[in-house]
Amino acid sequence: MIDNHFVVPASLTGKRILLGVTGSIAAYKVAGWVREFTTRSAEVTVVMTKAAKRFVSAMTFGALSGNRVYGDMFVREPEELMAHITLSREADVLLIAPATAHTIARLACGMADDLLSAAVLAAKIPVVVCPAMNTAMYTHPATQHNIGRLCDLGYHVIPPECGELACGEEGAGRLPEWETVHEKLIALFCPQDLKGKNIVITAGPTREALDPARYLSNRSSGKMGYALARTAARRGAEVTLVSGPVNLAIPPGVETMQVTTARQMQARVLEKAESADIIVKAAAVSDFRPKNCHRQKIKKNQGISPIEVEENPDILATLGKRKDKGTMLVGFAAESSNHEAEGRRKLEQKKADLIVVNDILRPETGFDVDTNQVILVDAGGSKQLPLMSKEETANRIWDHILTL
Ligand code: PMT
Repeated sequence: MIDNHFVVPASLTGKRILLGVTGSIAAYKVAGWVREFTTRSAEVTVVMTKAAKRFVSAMTFGALSGNRVYGDMFVREPEELMAHITLSREADVLLIAPATAHTIARLACGMADDLLSAAVLAAKIPVVVCPAMNTAMYTHPATQHNIGRLCDLGYHVIPPECGELACGEEGAGRLPEWETVHEKLIALFCPQDLKGKNIVITAGPTREALDPARYLSNRSSGKMGYALARTAARRGAEVTLVSGPVNLAIPPGVETMQVTTARQMQARVLEKAESADIIVKAAAVSDFRPKNCHRQKIKKNQGISPIEVEENPDILATLGKRKDKGTMLVGFAAESSNHEAEGRRKLEQKKADLIVVNDILRPETGFDVDTNQVILVDAGGSKQLPLMSKEETANRIWDHILTL
């Protein structure tokens, strides 16, 4: 806890991962995951089944993790005879990836015939399982039954992805992407205090076309809105992200709708607003659009004529007028002066429950940077947050929203 709020982890730094690797061709991909974990300062200890060693050598995992790799139950050093107990006691999460049909069946029956399965039974930490196998094996009733059993046991199963498999067939069974697993692991260490909340977030700029080549827009990169979406999903929320054109990866587990113009953004937001518990408008919506969108590219030899503009809908104000008591409405304010006063004016004018004010003149805050420093303005007063990453800022915004 820091100044009476949870420190919500934004990464796996310092986390200890006990990684169980089983005998699937996808084991080679998991070797790459070890590198991803260690570059994020997570500590990885690998336990391999006998079959796993047929695909990737223990030396590979040892070199990548920098730690001893465990294999069978029966180890040489007598003091490590209790490895099946100590290994999970010295870890924060037990990740089994790839998980073969055979290992899934063994775990479903509570078997402990090797170090990995024994460690799972002895574990008092979250267990995350990533099935990876041929589609027919994955969809086989026996495997599906065993996976259901793992879920009943409280293990977290990350479903495989669909696509081309090592055997050349297409379908469900591919090891999930690293980003999906990374998000899941971080979420495990986050308080699920937004669970059950249906949250709509807007992010990024809008583009208002002048001709087929030119448009009015702004410097929003989407980073603030995407950080809000990612952190809300980690904390258990059902998140819909309505995003203008940005160059950011879609946060795993977030339903994302891509839009271009302010009017498209408004349409999508109003569609989702009815069922939303919280709406956060982090997008930089263009207030104006060119009155005439030329069908042909304007030629400069035609002379430069003034661009006539007309007003775009004010989505936040529209939401403020129609929102019912059950929906919490959060707006942002991009200001270059009179920050708090402007935030309060917008709070009242747009009937929002919270306005997040950020300065767009400072290089380290506002548009297209990884950090931000915001003032939270609500009916109860205002609160200045320190300069920090947009991800930490997002977590603090959720913390504050939960107090309203
Ligand atoms: O995307 P990044 O690069 O990370 O930058 C983040 C950000 C600076 C874009 C973000 O932190 C931010 O300040 N977003 C709001 C930008 C903006 O449009 O502020 P504004 O003061 O002009 O608008 C006030 C509020 O009304 C905002 O919630 C905005 O979404 C909303 N609005 C504005 C105009 C409009 N036509 N419809 C709206 O809903």
